[in-house]
Amino acid sequence: MEQHFTDTIDAGRRIEPRDWMPDGYRKTMIRQIAQHAHSEIIGMQPEGTWITRAPSLRRKAILLAKVQDEAGHGMYLYSAAETLGADRGDLTRKLIDGRQKYSSIFNYPALSYADVGVIGWLVDGAAIVNQVPLCRSSYGPYARAMIRICKEESFHQRQGYELLLAMMNGTSAQRAMVQDAADRYWWPSLMMFGPPDADSPNTAQSMKWGIKRHTNDELRQRFVDMTVPQAARLGVTLPDPDLRWNDERGHYDFGEPDWEEFKAVLSGAGPCNAERSARRRAAHDDGAWVREAALAHAARTRNPPAERIFAATGAPDA
Ligand SMILES: [Fe+2]
Ligand SMILES: [Fe+2]
Repeated sequence: MEQHFTDTIDAGRRIEPRDWMPDGYRKTMIRQIAQHAHSEIIGMQPEGTWITRAPSLRRKAILLAKVQDEAGHGMYLYSAAETLGADRGDLTRKLIDGRQKYSSIFNYPALSYADVGVIGWLVDGAAIVNQVPLCRSSYGPYARAMIRICKEESFHQRQGYELLLAMMNGTSAQRAMVQDAADRYWWPSLMMFGPPDADSPNTAQSMKWGIKRHTNDELRQRFVDMTVPQAARLGVTLPDPDLRWNDERGHYDFGEPDWEEFKAVLSGAGPCNAERSARRRAAHDDGAWVREAALAHAARTRNPPAERIFAATGAPDA
């Protein structure tokens, strides 16, 4: 069975839910998919605070659709984790209790409407660079979920860039807001690719299993190369004095993110960690009556619409 598993991966074919897989593969896959799902769900919060304060009905409709897409991404991913035997209610509890992590980027605040644009441009942009290779993940349900998610992320990035272009063509105050947002989000975006390769001990095993296709540093470089010309086109200065084209390497050189800050934010000491967790916990508690009502309804009708509702809200605690 182990040989068949290895051969399947080596031949570039997918592992499917009913296939035998090593425990370590299953655990790693559940952890990765759960962290990804949690990131999508927590990621609704920074921009979500701006829905009621959008500057026009058009911007409100766009932002509402974008934040709703992120909820959908979370749902596909929790479903993918379930195909590995994970329990959605259990994953939600682990997120709420702080036993499972989500991307460090969502622990930074969104301070102005320019942040909505910069999050779309840089955060969704970094997410795309991270996720496009995952469309070839060795685990079938994850890879297939990723294809649709990447298409939607690409829309997200464009709406962010379009918003920034509009602001950069606006008043000097609006241009200053965009520059300020880019200054705050540039380094945290680079941190989205994870620690430097030298500090990423699981990379080799994950590459062997086809869970990971490129190292953190390779993806970070790809993101920088893609983003620098976009910043120039916008007229935004990226806050890195070491950023310059290197003819010899055929890539941009860039400075080192503050990895101490990265570790602090990951371990719970970021500017918004407590707020994000409290909000998620409150949303879960506020939804308890929906889960109870759905269960009662299911028991009465014996025709379980509850399962469909839980697919959107997470399973009840009991
Ligand atoms: Fe997403
Ligand atoms: Fe997105």
